[in-house]
Amino acid sequence: MYDAKAYSAASATSPLARATIPRRDPRDRDVKLEILYCGICHSDLHVVRNEWSNTVYPIVPGHEIVGRVVEVGAAVTKFKRGDLAAVGCLVGSDGTCAECKDGFEQFCPNLTLTFNSPDAQLGGTTYGGYSDSIVVDERFVLRVPPNLELASTAPLLCAGITTYSPLRHWGVTKGKKVGVVGLGGLGHMGVKFAHAFGAHVVVFTTSPKKKDDALRLGADEIVVSRDAVEMGRHLGSFDFILDTVSADHDVGAYLELLRRDGNLTLVGAPPKPLAVAAFGLIMRRRSLSGSNIGGLAETQEMLDFCGEHELTADVEVIPIQKVNEAYERLLGSKVKYRFSIDMASLKAE
Ligand SMILES: NC(=O)c1ccc[n+]([C@@H]2O[C@H](COP(=O)([O-])OP(=O)(O)OC[C@H]3O[C@@H](n4cnc5c(N)ncnc54)[C@H](OP(=O)(O)O)[C@@H]3O)[C@@H](O)[C@H]2O)c1
Ligand SMILES: [Zn+2]
Ligand SMILES: [Zn+2]
Repeated sequence: MYDAKAYSAASATSPLARATIPRRDPRDRDVKLEILYCGICHSDLHVVRNEWSNTVYPIVPGHEIVGRVVEVGAAVTKFKRGDLAAVGCLVGSDGTCAECKDGFEQFCPNLTLTFNSPDAQLGGTTYGGYSDSIVVDERFVLRVPPNLELASTAPLLCAGITTYSPLRHWGVTKGKKVGVVGLGGLGHMGVKFAHAFGAHVVVFTTSPKKKDDALRLGADEIVVSRDAVEMGRHLGSFDFILDTVSADHDVGAYLELLRRDGNLTLVGAPPKPLAVAAFGLIMRRRSLSGSNIGGLAETQEMLDFCGEHELTADVEVIPIQKVNEAYERLLGSKVKYRFSIDMASLKAE
């Protein structure tokens, strides 16, 4: 065991502050990463503030991690010292259940999340990426394409895979009309991927000022969702809608925009239940579903796709000392479009 530097919160109302946390020494199959960048996901904020009512304190969030390998266990085959590597939302699963066998580790009943999960090795809970280093079983460590800029690659590990996976699953390709609701960290990646897959992309936003950005990111049209006339123009026309909204909103208004057999997938995780009118689904045989990040093989596939297409997140790089301010801006939808923490700022403390 060794001491690592981190930022942690002591309660739902405490700011994130400098802390020292224990990390395990690498075992045979472990990789130790020096963390270079970590993205800030809205899930970090939900958990730090106990909005999903399952937070164990102190909490160290962060699951969009890129770094350099500084040590490997004797049995590690995928990585060597000096390699770039990445860790997303998962650091463990049983590897034996039907979900794991099918490559859906994110649905494993015994999965270990990167933070706020029971830590089988050290006891207590797992600590995430707002830290200078992390030790992870190589099965959960991803390869980073060498041509990508690291600060903007970090958000691919959650915002990237969480949007890539459902777009692929629901067959988003050329000729499909696809909506992305909410232009935040997830939403802007959804727009980039849907555009790269050849779809006609419509962004729904509550922020009219994001129009030019949406078009630059790959949207073909933008709809201000509070404008009923604009919404009405799209009734019954979408093949697929990806809803990334982090707060309470009228999901029924988007179901009405789906064509026959259209699907709306929720990836946003508002703390309160959403209201759904039965007729919103019954008519036109529409469906409503959800999606949770992605499995390891698909996450690697997504990273490789991003390498081939030079596709990364739009980030604002911040020192870790600005993390509490960043949370307030995230809550106000005032980030273009993901914060990425430069971990050199933590090492310097
Ligand atoms: N399913 C998964 O695996 C998974 C993975 C990661 C994150 N998540 C969840 O996905 C959600 C989004 O995460 P994120 O990091 O992308 O957050 P984010 O950057 O804050 O983006 C959320 C966007 O939702 C829109 N929005 C916010 N409040 C709204 C409101 N009251 N009404 C309507 N629209 C609103 C805003 O877009 P506009 O300004 O364009 O309206 C905002 O930019 C969070 O709930 C997070 O926990 C789920
Ligand atoms: Zn996330
Ligand atoms: Zn499993």
